[in-house]
Amino acid sequence: ARLAGSVGPLSGRHIVVTAGPTHEPIDPVRVIANRSSGKQGFAIAGALAALGARVTLVAGPVALATPTGVIRQDVTTAQEMAEAVDAALPADAAVMVAAVADWRVEPATQKLKKRSGPPPLEWQPNPDILADLAADPRRPRLLVGFAAETHDVLAEAAAKRDRKGADWIVANDVSGDVMGGEDNQVHLVTADGTESWPAASKAEVGRLLADRIADAIKDQ
Ligand code: CTP
Ligand code: CA
Repeated sequence: ARLAGSVGPLSGRHIVVTAGPTHEPIDPVRVIANRSSGKQGFAIAGALAALGARVTLVAGPVALATPTGVIRQDVTTAQEMAEAVDAALPADAAVMVAAVADWRVEPATQKLKKRSGPPPLEWQPNPDILADLAADPRRPRLLVGFAAETHDVLAEAAAKRDRKGADWIVANDVSGDVMGGEDNQVHLVTADGTESWPAASKAEVGRLLADRIADAIKDQ
C-alpha cells in the first residue's frame, strides 16, 4: 500500500522537520521550556508529505496529531532532538521549526523542595542543531531555519541566516499573539533578499513553504 501523499513533486525526497519546544528538566518534576505549540512545524511537515516527500518529523512535547504520511519521532530535550536529527540523515532538505531551549542544567535527581528556597541553576549551552547541521558533511542541500523575533525582525533574521549557515530563514514577529494561534505572518529571507508573505493560516503558510521547497530542490 502506498502512503498517502507519496506521489507529487517531492516524491523520492527525504525531508527532516523539527517542531515544537524542547523541555529541559531541572528536577524529576520541573522543566525549563520554550513556548511553541508546534502548529507551524506540524503544518509544514504535513504539507511536505502531501507533495510526496518522505518526512521525518522530530517533535518536542506538543499536543498535536501526526499529519498524514509523516513519520514522527518524539523527543523531550534539545540533546535528544539533536540525536534524532542526526539519526534521520541523510536528507534532501531540513526545516528547523523547533523552538529549542538554548541552555540546559544538570537536573537534580530528587525533587527540589520549596522550603530550600529558589535553586541556583548552573546553565550550559545546548547544541545548536541548525548550525551543527550547516557545518556537517551530510548537510542537506536546502537548510531552512526559523526565527521568532520580538524586535528588529528582518535584521535579526538576516544576521541569523549568515551566522548559522542556513539557506533560508523564515522570520516572524512574535511580539503579538502568534504563539499558539492559528495564523502567522512570515518573511522569507534568502540569499536574494527578503519577501514578506501575507498573513495566513499556519496551514497555508505550510503549503506555501512546501511549494517553495519543492521548487528549490526539483533540479537537484
Ligand atoms: N535552533 C536549533 N538549535 C538550537 C537553537 C536554535 O536548531 N539550539 C534553530 C531553530 O530551530 C531555528 C533557528 O535555529 O530554526 C533559530 O533559532 P533561534 O532561537 O531564533 O536562534 P538563536 O541563534 O538561538 O538566537 P536567539 O538568541 O534569538 O535565541
Ligand atoms: Ca534560541
